Amino acid sequence: MTPANTRTTLVKLTGVSKYYGNIRALEGVSLEVAAGEITCVLGDNGAGKSTLIKIISGLHRHDAGSFEIEGEETVLANPRAALDRGIATVYQDLAVVPLMPVWRNFFLGSEPTRGRGPFRRLDVGLMRETTRAELLRMGIDLRDVDQPIGTLSGGERQCVAIARAVYFGAKVLVLDEPTAALGVKQSGVVLKYVAAARDAGLGVVLITHNPHHAHLVGDRFVLLKRGVMAGSHTRDSITLDELTRQMAGGSELDELSHELARVAQSPQGTGDTPYDQAAHRPADRTPRDERDA
Ligand SMILES: Nc1ncnc2c1ncn2[C@@H]1O[C@H](COP(=O)(O)OP(=O)(O)OP(=O)(O)O)[C@@H](O)[C@H]1O
Ligand SMILES: [Mg+2]
Repeated sequence: MTPANTRTTLVKLTGVSKYYGNIRALEGVSLEVAAGEITCVLGDNGAGKSTLIKIISGLHRHDAGSFEIEGEETVLANPRAALDRGIATVYQDLAVVPLMPVWRNFFLGSEPTRGRGPFRRLDVGLMRETTRAELLRMGIDLRDVDQPIGTLSGGERQCVAIARAVYFGAKVLVLDEPTAALGVKQSGVVLKYVAAARDAGLGVVLITHNPHHAHLVGDRFVLLKRGVMAGSHTRDSITLDELTRQMAGGSELDELSHELARVAQSPQGTGDTPYDQAAHRPADRTPRDERDA
């Protein structure tokens, strides 16, 4: 984390609320994104994570509270306005054209051209070379930038999207659950590029369910629960164990563990309840996950 006196705050939300009709999606949420830092937003399903980033990326407007970009109170009209202010968002269902080459997707919507008037053409050579060079600069060595982007793994596609945001000069990079659908190894690769974007000086907002991923790279952590803030911590003020505990619902998890213990001990536990299948199972029918454990 950068020392407090040299931090540049790029985005600051204070007491932000958002209602969908009479559904309260967010209430009084505050968060800061600084250059060269990763702010993680953690929360369970329906906690309001996507709603929060939709406000930051200009898709929705907040109903209360303040939203500042580089110290200036702002209401974004649309995602284009957010992009113009340097806020790039990578959604989980990446907006790519699977059959088009990697370089074409890299420049989608911002294609360079050469020549004039009727001789104006897409500058394919430049796009190919730039894509290759930019990916390489982020440490991504693609065999072939001409391959359709649909042939890349989910992790690689996330990395291309991050490299693209960096290349087009984003100051703030917002990532909605970039590791949600990925295995351990690919998640690691994506987190490496998230860290690379931070090292390039961007302010990153990382949405995740996974406290391990958050704690690996995060500088700040905002916990959401049913639309309200359940905690806000800096990296040195919370351990991974505590973050995991708070994420899992802390006391709710303790209650659940007591309840489960009660179920296991209850007298019905010896009868034909669904909880007692293990007693009736032949030795070779152990479920797969128990066998592998
Ligand atoms: N367009 C909408 N109209 C009405 N209610 C909505 C809308 N979008 C979200 N909500 C509600 O707002 C709450 C927060 O939703 P949100 O999508 O922000 O949660 P989330 O933390 O991103 O969840 P998930 O982890 O499942 O993606 C939920 O109760 C959801 O049902
Ligand atoms: Mg969501």
